[in-house]
Amino acid sequence: MITDVVSPMTENHTPSLRIRDLRMSFGDKAVLSGIDFDVHPGQFVALVGPSGAGKSTLLRLMNGSHTPTGGSVSVLGADPSRCGRRELQQLRTRIGFVFQQFGLVGRLSALENVLMGSLGSLRLPRYGVASYPRALREKAVANLERVGLAAERFQRADTLSGGQQQRVAIARTLMQDAEIVLADEPVASLDPRASLSVLTTLRALSAEDGFTVVCSLHQVDLALQVSDRIVAVRDGALLLDRPTAETSEAQIRAVYDDQTEA
Ligand SMILES: Nc1ncnc2c1ncn2[C@@H]1O[C@H](COP(=O)(O)OP(=O)(O)O)[C@@H](O)[C@H]1O
Ligand SMILES: [Mg+2]
Repeated sequence: MITDVVSPMTENHTPSLRIRDLRMSFGDKAVLSGIDFDVHPGQFVALVGPSGAGKSTLLRLMNGSHTPTGGSVSVLGADPSRCGRRELQQLRTRIGFVFQQFGLVGRLSALENVLMGSLGSLRLPRYGVASYPRALREKAVANLERVGLAAERFQRADTLSGGQQQRVAIARTLMQDAEIVLADEPVASLDPRASLSVLTTLRALSAEDGFTVVCSLHQVDLALQVSDRIVAVRDGALLLDRPTAETSEAQIRAVYDDQTEA
């Protein structure tokens, strides 16, 4: 049988994520009502949908911050809700998380913030750049270089622009050599130009290193420009799941329309 040409990453048949009939309620409020999809290694998935659709909840279920009410999540072959404490810690070292609010320590330099991404592999605490092993310092500088900020490495994080701060946060995640990066509205507080530039960088890094990305976005145009695949949710249900190349702007916009199509 002739099979499609697959990249080395997709030959690995363990999906990065396998989500089955995933349900989540908070009290008696149903937030996700039966979500199914798989994400394959190296894919860049844009998770779109209006505010309150359940995107953040879905991302939190993926890294084990929430336990599902029903159904299952498998991340890199493991179910975070069935992992013991240590196993979950272990699993989380393989999952990077990028937040809308960057999560940097403002008074520390860009470099030190990036170094903090390696703390999982070190004994705590660390004070100052010099307290990190040389190999990690070099890796941190290299990662800052990869996001275009080597020259700013000694600058305090709170003096950087929003786009630069999110780049630092991405460089920090790179320290983990994560297999999956989950990004929750990473560009929601940036202007359109910085947004595109940050996402394009994330996309390029994922292509170079082969890590999987699930990135929630509310800007449809950005989702179309940077992703391989669009997954749209609304009111906790999956409305659309298709390759970006086969998706039109109108199809995604429909997800945001109040009028449900017949
Ligand atoms: N911890 C929580 N407790 C109660 N309700 C929550 C909690 N987290 C989220 N929700 C509710 O779940 C729904 C989906 O939220 P969320 O996942 O944040 O959506 P999105 O990220 O798409 O904006 C919202 O109605 C929100 O109020
Ligand atoms: Mg959200």
